[in-house]
Amino acid sequence: MDYKNVKGTHDVFLKEADDYSYVEQTMKMIAELFSFKEVRPPVLEYSEVFVRSVGDSSDIVRKEMYTFLDKGNRSITLRPEFTAGIVRLVNQNKLLFNNELPLKTYYCGPVFRYERPQLGRYRQFNQFGVEALGHNSPYVDIDVIVLAYTILNSLGLENVTLKINTLGDDASREAYKKALKDYFANFIDNMCEDCKNRFVTNPLRILDCKVPEDQEIAKKAPKIFDYLSNESKDRFEIITTALDEMGIPYEIDDQLVRGLDYYSETVFEFHYTSNLGNNYGAIGAGGHYGNLIHELGGEKLPGVGFSFGVERIVSVLKDNNLLDNKEDSGLMFYVMPLDKKCNLLAEMITNQIRIFGYSADMCFDNIKVGSMFKRADKRSAKYAILLGEDELNNNKFVLKNLSTKEQSTYDLEDLEEVLNNELENDEHECCCGHDHEHCQCHHDE
Ligand code: HAM
Repeated sequence: MDYKNVKGTHDVFLKEADDYSYVEQTMKMIAELFSFKEVRPPVLEYSEVFVRSVGDSSDIVRKEMYTFLDKGNRSITLRPEFTAGIVRLVNQNKLLFNNELPLKTYYCGPVFRYERPQLGRYRQFNQFGVEALGHNSPYVDIDVIVLAYTILNSLGLENVTLKINTLGDDASREAYKKALKDYFANFIDNMCEDCKNRFVTNPLRILDCKVPEDQEIAKKAPKIFDYLSNESKDRFEIITTALDEMGIPYEIDDQLVRGLDYYSETVFEFHYTSNLGNNYGAIGAGGHYGNLIHELGGEKLPGVGFSFGVERIVSVLKDNNLLDNKEDSGLMFYVMPLDKKCNLLAEMITNQIRIFGYSADMCFDNIKVGSMFKRADKRSAKYAILLGEDELNNNKFVLKNLSTKEQSTYDLEDLEEVLNNELENDEHECCCGHDHEHCQCHHDE
């Protein structure tokens, strides 16, 4: 029998795993610069956490959750998103009481949705995101959007479209929902089944329908801006003015409503269509939520956050060759035992080099020296260390610089000093192999 991965999941290995780590590390590093701190909620939550927050009218709760009864007959769900779990964690551990607000958190890990697999759409995928909890200033929304924008820029993605909208406060939204219901009542009998459901549960979501005929009807629907309270208008204005002043380009999209029910006020999405024409959908999205913390048993305090789809971002970076030039985490030293007798010494030296803080690996096959050099080359090793019988008997080692091809023999007891010196000189060396003083390249020309 052939064993295969589960439909909608994907294996990540070797170079691609490196790409994922690089993307996630970059995101974490910048979130830390913005003073966000890591939280790690469990993958499993009681189903109620998501039903109550993401909402009955969302596709996620209606058809996409991996839900099962555990052996104690409790309904458990593999998280389909992070936000609800973070809010549950923060409430349960009373983190909004003893910390300065907003409490700024970030997270990264797998999420699960039973969706139809297609380009950029998996059933297990990874999200990196942030939630800033407990403070109502519009500048917290701005801080979060600027962070998302900075991360995308740092990864080299410049032509990202930020789409932004406001759903207003509770009163504005209720008035708008009523206007939408009045409008769609004239068309709903001829619209798709999803729209019919949304007409009853949450008419806002009809604006999100992807059926072309329904989209035509939705385009002429009443606009949220005509139903906003003055406070919501002012809040949105502060946010767009700040984006203007900070030079962050955006498009106001009055059809943007998001697929999760907990949003109020600001909502936003990041889109990218690559030069190759691949459209992966939104590469990240988020917004403000006024009632979620309270609905999950906490204070009447708001939150705001976003999540990136890590798979989609890695794909977009690949399409744009933005993963080719990232810093090489390749091998520094490749240790070559030229005879079986030298294996133990090779293992000990390799380990010693790692303790000095350099990456090292040994050749585990006692093959011909030429084949070992080929392997070193394949691993992009910078140096080879050769150990033959002579070296073993005389406590020596041979160090070969694999780009200049220079090699010398040294005493084993000087190993650390020799390697440190060599690497220090290497830092001062130009691409032509000379030190910078004697370099013959014409860099300025
Ligand atoms: P979301 O829009 O459902 O929002 O997901 C966020 C991102 O996850 C999407 O923009 C997309 O990049 C990625 N994504 C979603 N579904 C898939 C999939 N099936 N395969 C691959 N990537 C996918 C949320 O999850 C909210 N919790 C965001 C948020 C945080 N709002 C406030 N705070």
